[in-house]
Amino acid sequence: MSERVASRVWSPFTQMKAALPVQQVRAGRGAVLELEDGRQILDCISSWWVTLHGHGQPEIAAAVAVQAKELEQVIAAGFTHRPAEELARRLVDALPAPLKWVFYSDDGSTAVEVALKLAYQFWRNQGERNRTRFLRLEGAYHGDTFGAMSVGERSLFTRPFADLLFPTDAVPFPATWEGDGEVEAKEARALARLEELLARRPGQYAAMILEPLVQGAGGMRMCRPHFLAAVQVLLRQCDVLAIYDEVLTGFGRTGALFACEKAATQPDIICLAKGLTGGFLPMAATVCSQRVFSAFYCDDPAKAFYHGHSYTANPLGCAAALASLDLLAGEPFRRLAAWQREEVVRLRGHQRLERVRVCGTIVAADVVAEGEARVGPLLRERSLARGFLLRPLGNSAYVLPPYCIERPQLASIYDCLCELIDAL
Ligand SMILES: Cc1ncc(COP(=O)(O)O)c(C=O)c1O
Repeated sequence: MSERVASRVWSPFTQMKAALPVQQVRAGRGAVLELEDGRQILDCISSWWVTLHGHGQPEIAAAVAVQAKELEQVIAAGFTHRPAEELARRLVDALPAPLKWVFYSDDGSTAVEVALKLAYQFWRNQGERNRTRFLRLEGAYHGDTFGAMSVGERSLFTRPFADLLFPTDAVPFPATWEGDGEVEAKEARALARLEELLARRPGQYAAMILEPLVQGAGGMRMCRPHFLAAVQVLLRQCDVLAIYDEVLTGFGRTGALFACEKAATQPDIICLAKGLTGGFLPMAATVCSQRVFSAFYCDDPAKAFYHGHSYTANPLGCAAALASLDLLAGEPFRRLAAWQREEVVRLRGHQRLERVRVCGTIVAADVVAEGEARVGPLLRERSLARGFLLRPLGNSAYVLPPYCIERPQLASIYDCLCELIDAL
């Protein structure tokens, strides 16, 4: 394994003193990463859920190269360009009808910051000064900037900043899995809690933010579309905006292009990032309804949305996103979703796995661990030694590969996972 010795790179989410040696990656092709030392690693998690169509996807690479020769970057205030305009139009066409205006930013966290600020100022611009609170789901993760941390579950990651985070009200997440007999009861409890909060603080909530269908970093926990529909009814009754964070679930991951499509719900604001550019470039979009936009559109400069980033609407990112959307037109996620449904059978009977769950292209299960055994780091280390990039979340192992993965490659992930769990 390559050593960290001379590296000056500070790794994310890492205690550098205890860190395993970092892997030096030289290239990526399809679902495979090639390391500097010649080893090949199968990317079973799409490099943190971004790589939709595989590494080095030729059409996206070509689109980025062509765009780089035309216009690599331009200030986004007062200027626009064809890729940004076309991408906005195509996103609006693909999303539920109420979503009409696209605000670009850089990554999932900034997409969430934009959504929270839009929701907050939406009410303020209309003179509703009491609508200052946010509702969220327990176990949520929306990113690492301050607003995103505030609406996420408090954890080891947020602890040093606890005093700086704004308060939110959390609704239980009715996580479900195959054979779960309690799901209706869990949903009823969650909805009752939401109703109670809405009644307790009438006219005080600006919005509720949620990861629809799958909570990613919270452990690939899944809920039913039915629950989202019921939440929507309650929020509408109290005129609370719904923000869907589809940073993970967007672009086919749940088996439909967007989770809101699968749930037949219509958020007021949606956050997109990760797969937006097919995993090629950091870019995000926060898309809002005409109603939200209209609260900012007036003669008063103080009611403008004063937010932006140096790289807002970067032309290279837009070009990559357009090429990725072209590839998504063939719905490549459906093939992977079908294979995942077949492969997951192998996890079902496993004695050391529980809560087996599937949502489109995502499969997850919890490893039954004895005592305080730290299953995640063990599985991560041992799978890497065998040429697989897996990164369990706590005791939850999951498989979330790029859509281009071949069937034998997918099968080999399950072989590896089952063997490693047997040997734990
Ligand atoms: C649902 C969700 N929202 C937001 C984020 C933050 O995205 P980023 O890491 O691009 O800032 C993540 C990252 O995992 C996520 O899963």
